[in-house]
Amino acid sequence: MPIDVSAEVMANHPLSTDYNVLALAAPAIAAAAAPGQFVMIKPADGFDPLLRRPFSVFEVLRDARGTATGLTILSKRIGVSTTQIYDARPGQRMACLGPLGRPFSIVDAPDEAWMVAGGVGLAPFATLAAALGARGVHCTLFYGARRAAELFYLDFFRDLGVDLVLTTEDGSAGEMGRIVAPLDRRLASRPASARVMIYACGPEGMLAATAKIAASHGRPCQVSVERIMGCGLGGCYSCVVPVRGDDGRFHHVRSCIAGPVLAGDQVRWD
Ligand SMILES: Cc1cc2nc3c(=O)[nH]c(=O)nc-3n(C[C@H](O)[C@H](O)[C@H](O)COP(=O)(O)OP(=O)(O)OC[C@H]3O[C@@H](n4cnc5c(N)ncnc54)[C@H](O)[C@@H]3O)c2cc1C
Ligand code: FES
Repeated sequence: MPIDVSAEVMANHPLSTDYNVLALAAPAIAAAAAPGQFVMIKPADGFDPLLRRPFSVFEVLRDARGTATGLTILSKRIGVSTTQIYDARPGQRMACLGPLGRPFSIVDAPDEAWMVAGGVGLAPFATLAAALGARGVHCTLFYGARRAAELFYLDFFRDLGVDLVLTTEDGSAGEMGRIVAPLDRRLASRPASARVMIYACGPEGMLAATAKIAASHGRPCQVSVERIMGCGLGGCYSCVVPVRGDDGRFHHVRSCIAGPVLAGDQVRWD
């Protein structure tokens, strides 16, 4: 069952003029969250915005004994809520509901995990990389951004033992271009006997390209879709995604409860 709390803002770390990491004292939600799940958030006071917005659980914060004390979200400022999140001050309260949605399915070693992140699509991969690492799974993060200054938390992933493959659109770090290009090349060079699970989160065009590339190499792929969500609980149908059913025909599922993690080859990308 999702938990609804009025969570105190513990800290707010700006990463750039648009990105920030907000820490919320929501220990019960943090303790229950699985990689890929999300929370619905809005400032506890006021009616603008009226509706909460969805954010992946970025990190689970723990004390020295390992007990969950809170969670963070990685936010990119694009509108009214994300501006409030960027400007939030410690001590302020946020209405926080979660954990919500279906998480990633986590593979076991000797399978490898290749995570593909575009921009703020990095958010679900901090907890996923930690969970995979705890199972001894070798992880690679393919991470694309517009410019070097928008590649965040690289040392965090390196410290977890994750190999990094970076691209930027302007060539200021890593390879110039889109992140799916090195993904395609590396998949082509892997022997079919090496089992690789692909996890992707980012803009829908990147998800579609990743799913197509994974399918062309015969690899399984889990995508975390980002639709506009009004409730996060299955009640408003604002978040539907067309997926192929067992009968081979497409029907719409509510991505807040059937997802956000879906099989890439089941989604109709149009
Ligand atoms: C499951 C899930 C997890 C998410 N995790 C994160 C996360 O970890 N970090 C993060 O920064 N963002 C995340 N998002 C996206 C985030 O919810 C939106 O950026 C946020 O709702 C925008 O709210 P706003 O009030 O700032 O923008 P608004 O003022 O509501 O909208 C500004 C503009 O952005 C568009 N927009 C709003 N929501 C979305 C969306 N979901 N996808 C594409 N365009 C949108 C609107 O149509 C409008 O044009 C996630 C979305 C989903 C569905
Ligand atoms: S967000 Fe309301 S049904 Fe999915």
